[in-house]
Amino acid sequence: MDAIDVIRAKRDGGELSPEQIDWAVDAYTRGVIAEEQMSALAMAILLNGMNRAEVARWTEAMIRSGERMDWSALDRSTTDKHSTGGVGDKITLPLAPVVAACGAAVPQLSGRGLGHTGGTLDKLESIPGWRASLSPEEMLGVLRDAGAVICAAGSGLAPADRKLYALRDVTGTVESIPLIASSIMSKKIAEGTGALVLDVKVGSGAFMKTVENARELAETMVGIGTDHGLRTVALLTAMDRPLGRAVGNAVEVAESVEVLAGGGPDDVVELTVRLAREMLAAAGLDGGKDPADALRDGSAMDVWRRMISAQGGDPDAELPVAAETHEITAPATGVLTRLDAYGVGVAAWRLGAGRARKEDPVSFGAGIICHAKPGDKVTAGQPLLTLHADDASRFERALESLEGAYDIDEAGTLDQLPLIIDR
Ligand code: URA
Repeated sequence: MDAIDVIRAKRDGGELSPEQIDWAVDAYTRGVIAEEQMSALAMAILLNGMNRAEVARWTEAMIRSGERMDWSALDRSTTDKHSTGGVGDKITLPLAPVVAACGAAVPQLSGRGLGHTGGTLDKLESIPGWRASLSPEEMLGVLRDAGAVICAAGSGLAPADRKLYALRDVTGTVESIPLIASSIMSKKIAEGTGALVLDVKVGSGAFMKTVENARELAETMVGIGTDHGLRTVALLTAMDRPLGRAVGNAVEVAESVEVLAGGGPDDVVELTVRLAREMLAAAGLDGGKDPADALRDGSAMDVWRRMISAQGGDPDAELPVAAETHEITAPATGVLTRLDAYGVGVAAWRLGAGRARKEDPVSFGAGIICHAKPGDKVTAGQPLLTLHADDASRFERALESLEGAYDIDEAGTLDQLPLIIDR
């Protein structure tokens, strides 16, 4: 087989054969196909797409490039959630313990922040002592002990995706629905979960800016999961404004703990409960304990504390706080009708909550607290947003990304997507 023939076939709008796909993914992982050849193939896929059979085969080849995890030693059904990423999206933190408290096992492999979107591991690492890297044996131990584990994927899981994702990131080929879908699903299938709920975000703060694109991504991923015998459900949910009131790392952990204590912002609670019900139903465990009760009766909090301790963290430790704050006040009286997720996400990233280069550290204390959410009445001069940073020199660029990111309107006409758009 020849790389140039495979590139030409896709460049000219043809369908890749199963043999071509198996060979291309394997040869690239082994270094036989050069980076420039795979970058040409990725661009041809971005421009000409792949049909359902091609996407399924591509995903299969990426799964086969590495190990597959196996949870059959557990006496509980496994279920997991994947979010396509957003601003203030801390849902995994309360969700995994809630679902475990209702009887399922949750083996959650999570990622780090990407651009303006936050990463679950960066948030959890703000808890003193907490470790993201676990061996498969340690994962099994935490799952047995706590019922849920949140950790980093090992290097042996879908190595073809690890290499290809890094290449796509620098060749303008991230935004391809077949490549995004196969990238996410190869890791989730290799993770060995028995059921999967996808939270596909829509809006300015998400990868998918429109409902149409998000629906196509969701349908492609559900198709891949179903073809692999994985019970897969997708929700389309709003990411035109931040989720909850906290955006950053430690501030999002604190907000998640509020939710686990039975409080917290309504949107975070509503999405956590809805996704938990979907995860339990996909695992065949509906009809048992309800997730809303697990938040009320403290059982989800008990799982959280066991899960954090089992990974070396101290659930009672003080969380890091940034040294400097800057307050933005409401310029007028009225209703906050818009708070743009992308503007807030970029501002939090510039404050230090995210990375400029993948090897950079994040600031655990950096981030933003939104004192008002769209729909809230505000009075001129009241605090609207508080910015937190370790270094006051970061405020200027963060403030630039918040220019035009919110509207206050006397008539109070809200301009936003419903929290749960579709299933
Ligand atoms: N997340 C992934 O894991 N892969 C993509 O391609 C995009 C988002």
